[in-house]
Amino acid sequence: MCGIVGYIGKRNSQEILLEGLKKLEYRGYDSAGVAVYTASGLQIQKAKGRIANLESKLEEAPLNGSVGIGHTRWATHGKPSDVNSHPHTDNSMKFSVVHNGIIENYITLKEELIEKGHVFVSETDTEVISHLIADLYEGDILKAVQKAVKRMTGAFALGVLTEFEPDRLVAVRQASPLIIGIGEGENFIGSDIPAILEYTRNVFILNDGEMALLTREGVELMTLEGNFISREMFRVDWDIVTAEKAGFDHFMLKEIHEQPRAYRDTMGSRISADGTQVTLNELTTLTPEAIREINRVHIVACGTAYHAGMVGKYIIEKMARIPVEIDVASEYRYRSPIITKDTLVIVVSQSGETADTLAALREAKRCGAHVLAITNVVGSSVAREADDMIVTLAGPEIAVASTKAYTSQLVAFYLFGLHLAQTLGTQTAAEIAETLAALKALPEQVEAILEQAEAIKGVAEEMAKHDNLFFIGRGLDYAVALEGSLKLKEISYIHSEAYAAGELKHGTLALIEEGVPVIALATQHELLEKTVSNIKEVKARGANVLGIAVEGELELQKSVDSTFVIPKTLDVLAPALSVVPLQLLSYYASLARGNDVDKPRNLAKSVTVE
Ligand code: M6R
Repeated sequence: MCGIVGYIGKRNSQEILLEGLKKLEYRGYDSAGVAVYTASGLQIQKAKGRIANLESKLEEAPLNGSVGIGHTRWATHGKPSDVNSHPHTDNSMKFSVVHNGIIENYITLKEELIEKGHVFVSETDTEVISHLIADLYEGDILKAVQKAVKRMTGAFALGVLTEFEPDRLVAVRQASPLIIGIGEGENFIGSDIPAILEYTRNVFILNDGEMALLTREGVELMTLEGNFISREMFRVDWDIVTAEKAGFDHFMLKEIHEQPRAYRDTMGSRISADGTQVTLNELTTLTPEAIREINRVHIVACGTAYHAGMVGKYIIEKMARIPVEIDVASEYRYRSPIITKDTLVIVVSQSGETADTLAALREAKRCGAHVLAITNVVGSSVAREADDMIVTLAGPEIAVASTKAYTSQLVAFYLFGLHLAQTLGTQTAAEIAETLAALKALPEQVEAILEQAEAIKGVAEEMAKHDNLFFIGRGLDYAVALEGSLKLKEISYIHSEAYAAGELKHGTLALIEEGVPVIALATQHELLEKTVSNIKEVKARGANVLGIAVEGELELQKSVDSTFVIPKTLDVLAPALSVVPLQLLSYYASLARGNDVDKPRNLAKSVTVE
């Protein structure tokens, strides 16, 4: 959580820091602040709330200087307030620190520093870092930071400045992401690439346990112990425009509309020209021999990525006939899962930086499993630490509510499932070709759904008047129901629950009363009759049912109050279509309630703390 940015160069750093923070606001938006080395020394400005509040303060009292650090916060230790905002400083006000992560031993360190006379003003763990560095400083900021990080446990990406050495900026990465941008006569740090992409495409991605010393003239990379490292520069090949709204009112709406393109790109050259084969050339260690050794698959992820994994479980079991277990990443390593060298662990993460997913990956590797990552960010921690990776080519996803990343993850699972089936011979060539043909039709089918957005808007505005609603479905429809419910909760703040349709009568049916909205997904042909029975059960108790059905299913349409129809596809591919109206529904419900769609309360895009 939290976004860090830093600049050292010749330009006015305030502007660069503010622009960078705006690009990182998705990581947290409780408060923001900057520290700039000015003619009168190191000056700090902070403001509770959105970056716009900080911007207004800086308009009134600008901080002029060409070296600075900035931070946008997602509160962990201490409520959102001016005093708890970063940058933090020490009693001399000569040191300044921005931090993303959690210092686990901050209480011990704080007590020790208080004994020595340090006075703390905030409730944060971060303030300890600035005091500790000040305490250890003996004329060299790099050395002081190296000594300080030796004392700290937990997760930390840091940007550190001192007034005593105004031409040096120190950056540290330990279990929280940080990149370094290389310019001409200027250099940058950022939690993520969009923060600096306006100024440079050349970046170094720091690994855990590494740090960097930035001056205007250059960047030195080293371990936390000070051993120099040489690293190849990474050239970013996507554009800042892809991280802008492109005329849409919100990033979420833009990203929903990008799904046909994301589908095409993610399938891309991975499907042979004659449409008969999947080629996943990027799998280097997961050779056909290695695939034949796999006797179980674990899928591990969080939130929306977990919901994609639920569909993935179904796909792999159906196509490759390998047993699959799925876990939320925050639970996985605490339940002593049975992991052997014949286990394939698939971690799914849009950002590739989710702390729990990364910890699950490390646990899997520690136990000798083969780890495959499905991620949207090449160069992310998950991507770098996994044995193999399938990149989803969704492009940068900025809205907190995940949409195009989820559907691209589904595509990755379809391709991987088919790849397993080809290798293991668990599906015939005709079955594989049929699925590939249906996959290739998805982008146009999503376009057709998006053309009906206005119809969904009307339904959403009606639903926005309710405080409770339910999603039901069976089989794959249940997995999509969970995703629809999460999407609605996170941006509209309407309480909703997703239920396996057959399970409602075991308790939750008691909550159904006159007028309660129920969204019933009924795209799975073999389960249709059973789902219709469950719809009748809620209708009999007064529910107002919106059905999500496949074109031509007239029987279902007769059982519900209104229907949204998706184009015909194979049952296994239906989630890739049926989720789209649910995304639109959440979007319009959030709008109707006057919420901030892209930045829902209490959340952040990347959850880099446990
Ligand atoms: O970056 P990741 O895919 O690892 O993120 C996982 C979840 O935090 C994420 O999917 C979250 O649930 C989304 N906000 C849901 O829209």
